[in-house]
Amino acid sequence: MAIFNAADEYTRSGDQNFLFKQNADFFYLSGIDQEQSILLLFPDCPNPLYKEVLFLRQTNEHIAVWEGHKYTKEEARKASGIEAVYWLHDFEAILHSIIHYADHIYINTNENDRYLPGVPYRDLRFLEELRGKYPLHYYERAAPILRDLRVIKSEVEIELTQKACDITGDAFVRVLKFVKPGVAEYEIEAEISHEFLRQRATGHAYNPIIASGRNAIVLHYNDNNQICHDGDVILFDFAAEYGNYNADLSRSIPVNGRFTERQRKVYDAVLRVMRQSTAMLVAGTVWNDYHDEVGKIMTSELIGLGLLDRHAVEKQDPKAPLYKKYFMHGTSHHLGIDVHDYASRYKPFEVGNILTCEPGIYIPEENLGIRIENDILITEGGNRDLMANIPVEAKHVEDIMNSK
Ligand code: GLY
Ligand code: MN
Ligand code: MN
Repeated sequence: MAIFNAADEYTRSGDQNFLFKQNADFFYLSGIDQEQSILLLFPDCPNPLYKEVLFLRQTNEHIAVWEGHKYTKEEARKASGIEAVYWLHDFEAILHSIIHYADHIYINTNENDRYLPGVPYRDLRFLEELRGKYPLHYYERAAPILRDLRVIKSEVEIELTQKACDITGDAFVRVLKFVKPGVAEYEIEAEISHEFLRQRATGHAYNPIIASGRNAIVLHYNDNNQICHDGDVILFDFAAEYGNYNADLSRSIPVNGRFTERQRKVYDAVLRVMRQSTAMLVAGTVWNDYHDEVGKIMTSELIGLGLLDRHAVEKQDPKAPLYKKYFMHGTSHHLGIDVHDYASRYKPFEVGNILTCEPGIYIPEENLGIRIENDILITEGGNRDLMANIPVEAKHVEDIMNSK
């Protein structure tokens, strides 16, 4: 038997919650985007009624007035494909009536190695409660199964990701036409949010980074409160979420519409690294080998830019390669319902994976940071760039900026 819980609702202040964000595994398995829901899967259940059951919060007049519409049973059947839909108050009795026919109970602990919550989340609290009531069952991890399922994207998941990428691209082109010296980072953010909302994105995939000049050196900058100055480059990392699927885009553009010669050299170096790295995103590639290869390509570009010394590189400690001074983050991560999607770091890439490709060069002494990031689907014959239509060549970017 496997039991999955919806995500917690998080209080923002009195009478206010943060926007609800469904648990990724729960959404993946059920398509149900509503709080407090529970999914029970028990394919060997001796009672055929309870092989696959969804439990939902029952609405009432008070909830309807204060929170709005909740799923009816019929709507939930349609959204999830699950026939057996019950209200939550039936959960305990139904569970009790069948749990003794299962030996192993799979619970959905969050094993994303980047997830470090300070407080116990819903599935964890549920596990503790269940252990108290049913101490002699074997409790098992659902996470490794979900990890291997979620990493291979289905057609509909690819379509939703593509839509998120397309909306993101439209916002980028809008920004290209909007940016000029003196504009504030938050004004650019407003343009992006406007484009996302008008195309019915379900939100930003993550807090957008609008980092002009030296701010681009801060990898997770999102103050977005500075003025963009003539002569600076702005590093953007923003993307839309659509139907709970995420895009992830980075671009770097000149505030005044023309890169300086030096900026252009760095830009083209990053773009070459991105192109060569993208070519390696194919089935069978292993993470560590990939990152080692990208490191070599980046090292050679950094030597070309005069940032690293060839002799120093020859003598470098392979465990602490010198390129990390200017390129200190990973090149790729899986992308899906989570922006940094849940996946094994050790399994070779497979057909159906979607990965980002996002090299960058950050030079504090030049107040310059450049990152370019596209989203890549691995296919049978190689890969497909889901952001192939979003301008990326320096000249193309400049042409749009100067085309008003
Ligand atoms: N936007 C987060 C990342 O690029 O990984
Ligand atoms: Mn990004
Ligand atoms: Mn990324």
